Amino acid sequence: MRKKIVAGNWKMNLDYNEGVSLFSEIVNMVKDERQGDQLAIICAPFIHLNSLSKLGGSDVAIGAQNIHDKENGAYTGEISAKMVKSIGAEYVILGHSERRQYQAESDELLAAKTKIALSNNLKPIFCIGETLDERNNGSYYEILKKQLVNGIFSLTEEDFRKVVIAYEPVWAIGTGLTASPEQAQDIHAFIRSEIEANYGFNVADDTTILYGGSCNPGNAASLFAQKDIDGGLIGGASLKSRDFTDIIKALNS
Ligand code: PGA
Repeated sequence: MRKKIVAGNWKMNLDYNEGVSLFSEIVNMVKDERQGDQLAIICAPFIHLNSLSKLGGSDVAIGAQNIHDKENGAYTGEISAKMVKSIGAEYVILGHSERRQYQAESDELLAAKTKIALSNNLKPIFCIGETLDERNNGSYYEILKKQLVNGIFSLTEEDFRKVVIAYEPVWAIGTGLTASPEQAQDIHAFIRSEIEANYGFNVADDTTILYGGSCNPGNAASLFAQKDIDGGLIGGASLKSRDFTDIIKALNS
């Protein structure tokens, strides 16, 4: 059975005190809403991770938003997978379109980061998504397949089973435009069929595939009702405890 997950991506927001205070609110609210096997994750800037992992308990897991692709060494200003793991984080977002775009992260670099995350027992939340141009010119299936093949399809089955995939159409991130439930379901089914072609039915059926891009309390339930959408990766709405908790509630409806 695949896990239902709502993961927050705080991006480059909140100073230390603001982060601790928002996170404490989220933990208190999520306690009452989370059911059974559902998982809430907050992916925060590095400076927050140590404190949040102590506050999160079993109700909210912690993730980073990036790691370096090397184990350690002379890489001034960088943070390794081992460092992130050592403070109690369990997840790391990789392949986010903002890093692909602003930090020029290539599929090859992301494949290396994915491997180093897994070898340090960090689970990747691996993001893929097409731009508006790619959506409009019809090349999006090909683009998404390339991101999957180059980024994560060379993993062993054992490692691949630890990966969460997030489909985030670039044109929907932070824009207020959301993929319709049907558009999102179409892509999620496509992703699952590509996983099946590579790893077989059981692995595909067990893989959690999240939707991200202007997901909010108003649209979450209709997205999560789709059969291949297993939760969400939430940017803006994860900065408000009520909105984030309401999105988790939408998993139950
Ligand atoms: P958004 O961001 O919810 O603000 O659109 C989603 C993301 O970038 O992960």
